[in-house]
Amino acid sequence: MMSATQAWRRVARRWWRRLRPSLTQLRLWSGLVLFAFATAHLCNHALGLISLEAMQAAQDMRLALTRSLLGTVVLCTAALLHFCLGLWQFVKLRMWRLGIRGAVQLLFGLLIPVLLIRHVLGTRGAHELYGVTDSYAYALWAMWPNEAVRLALLVALVWIHGCLGLHMWLSPKPWYRRHLWAFYGLAVLIPSMGYAGYVAAGRLQRQLGGISSPFTPDQYEGLQQQLGFWADAYYAILAAAVAVWLLLLLGNKFGARITVRYYNGPTVTAPRGLSILEVSLQNRIPHAAVCGGRARCSTCRVRVIEGLDQLPPPSLAELQVLRRVGAPANVRLGCQLRPTANLTISTLLPANLEPNQAATFDKYHWGVEREITLLFCDLRGFTKMSEGRLSFDVVFVLNQFLGRMAEAIEDSGGFVDKFMGDGIMAIFGMEGTPEDGARRAIAAARAMSGVLDSLNQSLHEELRIPLAMGIGIHSGHAILGRIGSAQRSESVAHLTALGETVNIASRLENATKDLGVQVAVSAYALKISGLLANDKTMPRTVEIRGLSQPLDIVVALRATSLPQPE
Ligand code: FES
Repeated sequence: MMSATQAWRRVARRWWRRLRPSLTQLRLWSGLVLFAFATAHLCNHALGLISLEAMQAAQDMRLALTRSLLGTVVLCTAALLHFCLGLWQFVKLRMWRLGIRGAVQLLFGLLIPVLLIRHVLGTRGAHELYGVTDSYAYALWAMWPNEAVRLALLVALVWIHGCLGLHMWLSPKPWYRRHLWAFYGLAVLIPSMGYAGYVAAGRLQRQLGGISSPFTPDQYEGLQQQLGFWADAYYAILAAAVAVWLLLLLGNKFGARITVRYYNGPTVTAPRGLSILEVSLQNRIPHAAVCGGRARCSTCRVRVIEGLDQLPPPSLAELQVLRRVGAPANVRLGCQLRPTANLTISTLLPANLEPNQAATFDKYHWGVEREITLLFCDLRGFTKMSEGRLSFDVVFVLNQFLGRMAEAIEDSGGFVDKFMGDGIMAIFGMEGTPEDGARRAIAAARAMSGVLDSLNQSLHEELRIPLAMGIGIHSGHAILGRIGSAQRSESVAHLTALGETVNIASRLENATKDLGVQVAVSAYALKISGLLANDKTMPRTVEIRGLSQPLDIVVALRATSLPQPE
């Protein structure tokens, strides 16, 4: 019988597991709010390069938002959350192998409040406590030039901390990597312009004569006391966090341990409570972690071979990432999984994985089953055409044919799986619905027929006989997977389809020879496309090797005669 305390602990543990994932996301979103605030702040400063009036007008608009009740609540909540979650992250840290980026981000994050307290108290604090109008005229009076170095340091700490966080979050996203140089440019431009605007405005203000102090001596004294109080409070919090961290560290060192066996690798013991990624790092076992353990990239994932039933369930953040990559139930994120009992695992991705390679280890890494449409196309009489020709001519014609057909396939939304000599295998419907895939395959066949006509026209002087081709189309379930070594990203990058549907589509393409037609579409593919046979298409039944029943198909002399999808 479970005691009340045990029951309470169990409930608390369950809630904690549910809450933990949202903490990762909260940290990200609160960080984004603060980064947006800092960016707007710096852009506002940059207007100092134009005029004091422009700077002030933008500040009025900015303050209307950030000093409204909603703006204040959002900003204060984000700051508090980000600070507390950052400290929590620090307290949980059981080792110092963070990597340079992680260490810089953590260190800068902890240093920011030291400088920020003074800045915030001097502006908004003065406004809230003593009703000071903290316009740019006041801010420049208070901060130029005596605060110039401190401000430069603060801008550098905030900006680098934020940019590192953003970079780690966005690294696995292809669009980010494509425009990386633009982001680098902005990362340098925004703080530089912001600081230059502050300097320019400060100098101008000096020339114009500045303003007199808005504080009475008592107020000024009060502000200094506040400053001392908040600075001391922050140092006390920091000292407490370090003390807790040390206690946890000691607890780990002398507390319970578990055994982690790496399949085809070492067996190590580690304190209970460490994540698998931390165990790997602690024991110098190569382990990919592109996002630095933030449950964003999925590159740290491991397959659990033994001990799956004793693992804590995945948190929401972990579940979301695992679902995104279509991982099976025995795959977990190394950075999130904190085993409480012995287990055997194998790491799935190469440890030297770069952010731009992470995308190749997607859901197809383990294979997924989908209803897709396959299109096979083959150049007819190619051997005969090559006879007596220079090899250069043959390669030229073949490349023209394959290149133009591949374009037609891709323009119709298909994926060219492979070129096979003088033939092509293409997949449709990998992402959309099966109906859409079948329609696109038929549209591609029509387009390819038109392309062949224009190719024959443009090459008529080099060809003794016009080029001809056969196309086979069939829809059905197939396995989509990346084929190749599991540990080498260049080979796993090849995505292909496997299964009976593939064989049937290939045999339909073959059947077009005997049937004397350009295209053969299975009746099933035509049916799910929602298109109707017309008077130029002919129903046929063919025997397909490996199928017990004859297959109903629709053929056409030219693929352009197939019904036209919208
Ligand atoms: S390291 Fe990125 S999800 Fe684990």
